[in-house]
Amino acid sequence: MVSVVNPAASSAAALRRFQWRDFWAVYGLTRHAFGRDAFGMDMLFWRALLSGGGFWVSQQGDEMVGYCLTRSSRWRGRGEVVAVAVRADARGRGHGRRLMEETIAFMRTKRMRELRLEVAVTNTPAQALYRSLGFVLHEHLANYYGTGRHGWRMRLDLEPPQ
Ligand SMILES: CC(C)(COP(=O)(O)OP(=O)(O)OC[C@H]1O[C@@H](n2cnc3c(N)ncnc32)[C@H](O)[C@@H]1OP(=O)(O)O)[C@@H](O)C(=O)NCCC(=O)NCCS
Repeated sequence: MVSVVNPAASSAAALRRFQWRDFWAVYGLTRHAFGRDAFGMDMLFWRALLSGGGFWVSQQGDEMVGYCLTRSSRWRGRGEVVAVAVRADARGRGHGRRLMEETIAFMRTKRMRELRLEVAVTNTPAQALYRSLGFVLHEHLANYYGTGRHGWRMRLDLEPPQ
């Protein structure tokens, strides 16, 4: 299903589920966005296969400009954002927010109790996005991305208020 993001801003912006024909574009965007921290082709293949429908791409016209890949454990009641990325020339236009909002809604329909992700302490744009959606800092991850490159684990409580 394709949903129009903001018809006023761009008639061609759309969010839809990942399809296998997106694989190489997603892989290319992963390398572009994460550089040396990018996961490999094998990892992407397995994560895509096991995403359980929690994998979306964002389009601008015919081009795939962003994606959000998740996994979830029914046993733990927990969803995780494996990766979210938007092409540099398409950032700041709401793709990242729309992808994350779709992810949160999906995790709620799957009755997950929380959503987690990891982010570099230096990645302030991503942290600002997550905070604006209600994520809070959960755990400091020393050297998570390599020596001297620390991370934060952030979490969003998805339990309905009592
Ligand atoms: C993080 C990322 C996905 C955001 O995507 P995006 O499409 O630019 O995000 P949006 O346009 O939807 O912006 C959403 C929010 O992010 C924050 N944000 C985006 N760019 C920002 C910047 N340069 N500085 C500070 N905050 C920023 C703002 O809070 C913004 O909210 P607003 O809409 O009220 O301004 C994108 O920057 C990216 O792909 N970065 C590289 C990969 C990455 O770091 N992924 C996250 C790994 S944990």
